[in-house]
Amino acid sequence: MAHRVFNFAPGPATLPVPALKRAQGDLLDYQGTGIGILEHSHRKPSYMAVHAETKKLLRDLLEIPDGYSTLFMQGGARGQFAIVPMNLLHPGTTADYVVTGTWGEKAVAEAKLVGEAREAANTAGDDGKHTRVPALDEIAMAKDAAYLHLTTNNTIYGTQFFDFPDTGDVPLILDMSSDICWQPMDVSKADLIYAGAQKNLGIPGVTLVIIKDELIEKGRRDIPSIFQYRTIEKADSLQNTAPTFAIYMMRNVLAWMADQGGLEEMERRNRKKAGLIYDAISAAPDFYRCPVEEASRSVMNVVFRLPTEELEGVFVEEAAAAELMGIKGHRSVGGMRVSLYNSMSIEGAEKLAELMGAFAKANG
Ligand SMILES: Cc1ncc(COP(=O)(O)O)c(C=O)c1O
Repeated sequence: MAHRVFNFAPGPATLPVPALKRAQGDLLDYQGTGIGILEHSHRKPSYMAVHAETKKLLRDLLEIPDGYSTLFMQGGARGQFAIVPMNLLHPGTTADYVVTGTWGEKAVAEAKLVGEAREAANTAGDDGKHTRVPALDEIAMAKDAAYLHLTTNNTIYGTQFFDFPDTGDVPLILDMSSDICWQPMDVSKADLIYAGAQKNLGIPGVTLVIIKDELIEKGRRDIPSIFQYRTIEKADSLQNTAPTFAIYMMRNVLAWMADQGGLEEMERRNRKKAGLIYDAISAAPDFYRCPVEEASRSVMNVVFRLPTEELEGVFVEEAAAAELMGIKGHRSVGGMRVSLYNSMSIEGAEKLAELMGAFAKANG
């Protein structure tokens, strides 16, 4: 058995060992073909079965209703920052953005390169930093907006939406890059969901898009065809050479989720893990401080500060010595950030919470 540490990195992130082992076996010789999975053509039945199974697993786990398509695209979530407005921001209309962190800021900036976009809410404080998500009635969406875009989980600031606005006829677009599949959800509340795979779904290289078919139809036709959702949907995400390995890994990760008990079980584990870390913070209130308002605290990325930056450095070192890696906060905000995606075990969170208790006692 290879030596594995606990990896709390924000993405690329830790992966389930069974998903990795499966890939290890398939790398040299996939199902007795004498060719590894990386070497199979995206048009061969052997790969096509993986492609279809990945879509089926997504549909089953997320209970994606009829009338929605699942697409595999490239360019990451940031690619979608551009591709969403390219398709849906028609001349003469304005898109509304809820800005709750770095990724929302970048998304609205991209939209402004394509057309008209405005901020329907912005939670930045005087220092430009975000410590909460807005109450739903704070979101000042125009009734005739082209769409409303929001980031469901703010990977850098450690905030998360636990409810989404009812936007009526205005399409709701969700960037769920860092919390897709963290719990069961009602997909029909959104019109388009996208997520880079490298946090909860697998490895970088593929971006999942779940889109209402009506919205595909309404998309612009005067943009390059490779960026039109209709092109990707019509070609079953095989218009060009698909990122087969990233989709294959998504299949392995989704199959693992299903095998573990599906998204209800993921939610139980995620709440337990986040509870352990937030409890460790509140158990030493003079030592640890979570800057995020309680109701907005993310279950996926827990951020917190120690009394001084020097102590933060020592804590990172002690954690690494205890094989707890990847806990340093994003360079733009500092402090700690602990990513607790589906693949992180409860044991990992327990070990980190234990260290937090001991470290506060020794240094407080
Ligand atoms: C919420 C969110 N949106 C977008 C991105 C950008 O993703 P990508 O690197 O796939 O473009 C990230 C990356 O961490 C993210 O966390």
